[in-house]
Amino acid sequence: MTDSAVHHILGQSEAIEGIRRLVRKAAASPARTILIYGETGTGKGLTARAIHELSPRGAGPFVDINCAAIPAELLESELFGFERGAFTGANQKKVGLVEAADRGTLFLDEIRELSPVLQAKLLTLMDTQRFRRVGSVTPIGVDVRFVAATNRILLNEVNEGRFREDLYYRLQVISINLPPLRERGEDILFLARHFLAELCQRYGRAPMAISDDVAGIFRAYRWPGNVREMQNLLERIVALEEADVIGRGHLPARVLRTLTDGGPHPARASAADFHAATESFQRDLIGRALSAHAGNVHSAALALGLTRHALRHQLKKLGLDPSSFTGKS
Ligand SMILES: Nc1ncnc2c1ncn2[C@@H]1O[C@H](COP(=O)(O)OP(=O)(O)OP(=O)(O)O)[C@@H](O)[C@H]1O
Ligand SMILES: [Mg+2]
Repeated sequence: MTDSAVHHILGQSEAIEGIRRLVRKAAASPARTILIYGETGTGKGLTARAIHELSPRGAGPFVDINCAAIPAELLESELFGFERGAFTGANQKKVGLVEAADRGTLFLDEIRELSPVLQAKLLTLMDTQRFRRVGSVTPIGVDVRFVAATNRILLNEVNEGRFREDLYYRLQVISINLPPLRERGEDILFLARHFLAELCQRYGRAPMAISDDVAGIFRAYRWPGNVREMQNLLERIVALEEADVIGRGHLPARVLRTLTDGGPHPARASAADFHAATESFQRDLIGRALSAHAGNVHSAALALGLTRHALRHQLKKLGLDPSSFTGKS
């Protein structure tokens, strides 16, 4: 067990330091389930791997599955495996990912995509550490830690009847909220310079610098795709531009637009983005108020023009922990 994994989670902000502390504690704990919440590109996959590597299970397998990427009808046998003859075409028995993750970690990405049937099976497995292969009556015991990730607020899915409440509470035992990049002002240039240096080396070219102008734009931009968006944007520049200093002329139009129209405001989001945009806007507002008042719910509520009760309700809905805004842990 090394401490290096947690150092892959880069950043200088208080928020990211808090995340590194939480990841270390969660990894070392005997908790069987850990939930990671964060917008796309905030580092959920990276965090899941760090938790595994820092845990006493680090020498065991790390198995990951994206619940959104596999058709629902295949997911069950992918997870639980099957016995020979379990269904037409099952000529060989198949070991599922749960068994493959024995003594290690199973990372369930985009967990809200699980069907109700699989949610129920998973909950039983989490509670008993036993499962059955498809087509078998014999339970198999395993020793698995489950790390689940989601980019949507699961409580909303619970309220709308799409996600089991008991599974939700099971997953909530330890939850880690990865803040969006735009809320980590100090990390923006730190990460940009880090990735830029790395990319220049990889592309075998002299180090590039970021102009003050672009530094200002980076700080103002909303980074909807978070750290991944920043990596991709910089890679495109390193690959295609010859200048030694990145200027605004090298930035894509969507980034420059932030300067003129205030960026992708929730009010301009499409209907499909409505829930995500509303949630993200609420998280922004509440996060900023809590940070400004060192995590004090009473003061933050006053600043937002909400009652303390109403703010508490919102915090619960958004899965936010006020103590993570104190700057301490
Ligand atoms: N704090 C960080 N320090 C260094 N690299 C980071 C950090 N956060 C994210 N990254 C990098 O950004 C990219 C996206 O991270 P990752 O794939 O873990 O995000 P994600 O939250 O799982 O995204 P998605 O929801 O789209 O799957 C990866 O290349 C990852 O290494
Ligand atoms: Mg991911």
